[in-house]
Amino acid sequence: MLIQSVFSLVFVASSYALVQDFCVADFSLPDTPSGFPCKDAGNLYGTDFAYSGLGVAGNTSNIFKAAHTPAFTPQFPALNGLGISMVRLDLADGGYTTLHAHRDSSELLVVIEGTICGGFISSTLVGYLKILNKGDIMVFPKGLFHFQRNCGKGPALAFLSYSSVMPGLLVTDYDLFGNDLPTEIVATTTLRDTAQFEKLKGVFGGSGSGPY
Ligand SMILES: *[C@@H]1O[C@H](CO)[C@@H](O)[C@H](O)[C@H]1NC(C)=O
Repeated sequence: MLIQSVFSLVFVASSYALVQDFCVADFSLPDTPSGFPCKDAGNLYGTDFAYSGLGVAGNTSNIFKAAHTPAFTPQFPALNGLGISMVRLDLADGGYTTLHAHRDSSELLVVIEGTICGGFISSTLVGYLKILNKGDIMVFPKGLFHFQRNCGKGPALAFLSYSSVMPGLLVTDYDLFGNDLPTEIVATTTLRDTAQFEKLKGVFGGSGSGPY
């Protein structure tokens, strides 16, 4: 009897989940706490489930010599609610992504061109590094700080897929040097030198004028 009711519960739950296969976001309607409303399924075609925005290299003329071109829900509305997304990563010679983490998402990298050194730090402070060549993939587990660096010659290209539709971003450099807290407070509480902190705030846009 118990088994039977558990079974019927599972059956009801799974058939409920199957009622809606997808929810292509309708940006003409306002966002809600549970995401954007769905476009009318009767007006969807194959093209609504495809996106062509990752075919062009991003602009790597910046201090990181790196460009991230996202395919998140705003660019690719069919991803809405599916829990996956993708980014094109271009790394010019010497380019890198600054050390960062995604709160809600693991990341899977595949190298298309060039040589990329990937690395992450576990929560027990063990560092894991790997040199990746064309066709190699590397996974960066959810919530762990990681980076990618072009460690070959010439440009490198990779695609990153995420187990989230909008991977939350924790970027150490932007968080530390891009905020508006007074330099002295952040420098002291992170054991850093104030002069170096001022310099990095110049790079990352920290204003240092925030209220205490
Ligand atoms: C790339 O970015 C740089 C710096 O912002 C800018 O000067 C340059 O015009 C951009 N190049 C292209 C092709 O958009």
